[in-house]
Formats: sequence, structure tokens, C-alpha cells
Amino acid sequence: MKQMQFTRFGDPADVAEIIEVDAPGDPGPGRVNVRVLASPINPADLLNMEGRYGAELPPLPATQGAEGVGRIIAVGDGVDNVKVGDLVTPPARGLWREIVQGPAAGLVALPADADILQLSMLRANPASAWLMLRDYVTLESGDYVIQNAANSAVGRHIIRLAKSQGWKTVNVVRRPDLIDELTGLGADHVFVDGEDLPDRVVEATGGNLPRLAIDAVGGTSVQRLARATADGGTVVNYGLLSGDPLMIDARETVFRDLTIRGFWLAPWFAKTDPREIGTTYAFLGKKMAEGLLHVPVEATYPLERVKEAVAHAGRDGRNGKVIITMDDV
Ligand SMILES: NC(=O)c1ccc[n+]([C@@H]2O[C@H](COP(=O)([O-])OP(=O)(O)OC[C@H]3O[C@@H](n4cnc5c(N)ncnc54)[C@H](OP(=O)(O)O)[C@@H]3O)[C@@H](O)[C@H]2O)c1
Repeated sequence: MKQMQFTRFGDPADVAEIIEVDAPGDPGPGRVNVRVLASPINPADLLNMEGRYGAELPPLPATQGAEGVGRIIAVGDGVDNVKVGDLVTPPARGLWREIVQGPAAGLVALPADADILQLSMLRANPASAWLMLRDYVTLESGDYVIQNAANSAVGRHIIRLAKSQGWKTVNVVRRPDLIDELTGLGADHVFVDGEDLPDRVVEATGGNLPRLAIDAVGGTSVQRLARATADGGTVVNYGLLSGDPLMIDARETVFRDLTIRGFWLAPWFAKTDPREIGTTYAFLGKKMAEGLLHVPVEATYPLERVKEAVAHAGRDGRNGKVIITMDDV
């Protein structure tokens, strides 16, 4: 079967190559084989291939593809939560290959009528959006949340999930052409980032400042979010899009008692009971099938064209995700 691999870190379009490898054999007890159908290219995939991801880098040679959707083609003894033919979020990383093998625990059958490309983006971004909204600050109906990179996939999910719970969003972007689109998604306020952002947020919210700020950018952008957050509020950082350290003035933490937290989805998988993981994805899969969670797709590429795909995904100002597809998806 075909698989993308890289043998050194560098520009993803330079280091990605397609090789032939043996397909996995019999899955064995408690495990499944999954034919991958689609896998998006996320910022973390590119950072990992560049050798710039914050966590431990993979041993080389490596493959990539942290999330996707696939169909179960074989189950081992004792597997009773999923069956052959079910659509699932594949139970392994490194999905830019045709077939993967992994444990069945925590897998749930995804809605058969949902869009395959959307389902391929279920694992990382909807769960991150939901857990950041749910787990750091207890929000009441009508409360505001502020976020930057609001047009990212995570940002769009935050807008939709917050609205579905009765929470309002203040959304920060870096391009004015996104204002109408995000407002149409249900964003309460959309602002282009700038020095006067905190003043605009005070005015827009009538002083009912957000108690939760969600930051994917770092650098000085997070300082502007912090200044627009209520005293005693929480700033959750989950991305490093600017590549700069979090520049939060000590006045925000010392005199206004802001709490700075980090969010990373990977430890949540390691620490959480598989049944709770299954419940979370059943909830999010249903929201996706209902159309609540939807991310624009700018392009799809077959696995063989992975070099073009990663180059495309690395461009600024995209209007949607770039997704690697297999078979005839
Ligand atoms: N911690 C976790 O567990 C976790 C989980 C999932 C995702 N993430 C992180 O979440 C972030 C968003 O991921 P995604 O898949 O949703 O992204 P995405 O849909 O691929 O969109 C990328 C976004 O980044 C923005 N951006 C890029 N460079 C920027 C900069 N220097 N300043 C401000 N904005 C910038 C883009 O804005 P333009 O459209 O204007 O170019 C776009 O909104 C990434 O940092 C990713 O690593 C973290």
C-alpha cells in the first residue's frame, strides 16, 4: 500500500515522499484495521514535518496525518463496539497512508450519512473547541468568549458551539473580508486585530467583558485578548501561529488576576476514560451530521500529490482546509 513518509525535517513539500509498504496483517484481539478515506492537513502536521512542533518530534522516518476518517475493514476478537463497514475516526496517527491498524477501545460508529470530508476533521478541531469552551470557565447563558484566529477551523467551531449553548463570541481576525462570513456563521462581533481592540470590545459588550479568552496566535495578539478579558478571567492558549512567545504584561496577571492556561488535546486522550471519549465524539459527530459543525474545504488532493497538498496548506489566506483523500472520495 502507499504511504507518505519523510526522512528528515524541513519544508514539507521538499521532505514528503510516497513509498510502498506492506499493509497491516490480521488486527489481533481488541484491534481493528481501517481503510483511510480522507485526512486534512492541519497546522500541527506542517509544524511536525518542519521539526518545529512543540512536543517531542517523531523518530525518523515518519509519516504524518493526525486526524481523518476511515472505514473498518477488519476487526479482531473481542471487538463489539464497532463492526466492519462502520465509518470511524481511525485509531492511530500517521494517516497519510491507505490502511492503519489500532485499538478499538473508544471508537464509535460515525453517522453514515454525514459528509466524509467534514467527518475527516472531527477528531482534533471540534473536540479542541468544545473542551476549551467547557473545561476552563463555567459559562452562563449570555456570557461572552473572545478568541483570535477566529476564521480557523477551531475558531469556526467555537462560534457555532458557543452559539448553540447560548454563549456569545467576540472574534478577532486579521482580514476584513472575513467579517460578513463569520457574522453569517453566528459570530456576535468580528474585529480585525489592532491596538484599539480592547476598547472596541468594551464598547461592543457594554462592559460585560469575556471571562474566557481563547488564543491560537501568541505574540502581542494574546496581550490584546488579555486586556479585553474581565478581571479574574482565564486566557487559554492552544496554538503558536505567530511563532512568538506569549507577551502578556504582568499588569494583567498581578493587578487583574488573569489566569493563563495551556490546552493540548493529546493528554486529554491519554487521561480520559475511553467511554467518555466515545461519548464526546458521539456528541460532536451528531453536531457535524446536523450541519452545526462545518469547515470550508479549499481543495482535495490524492495521496500521490501530497507535495502539492502540503505546499497549498501552508499558504496564508486560504479559504478552507486542504484535505488528502484516498479512493474516490
Ligand atoms: N492545542 C491543541 O490541542 C490544538 C488542537 C487543534 C488545533 N490546534 C491549533 O489551532 C490552531 C488553528 O488550527 P486550525 O486547524 O483550526 O487552523 P486552519 O483552519 O488551518 O487555519 C489557520 C488559521 O491561522 C491563521 N493564522 C496563521 N498565521 C497567523 C498569524 N501569524 N497570526 C494570526 N493568525 C494566523 C489563519 O489566518 P488567515 O486565514 O488570515 O491566514 C487561519 O485563521 C493552530 O495553531 C493549531 O495548531 C491546537
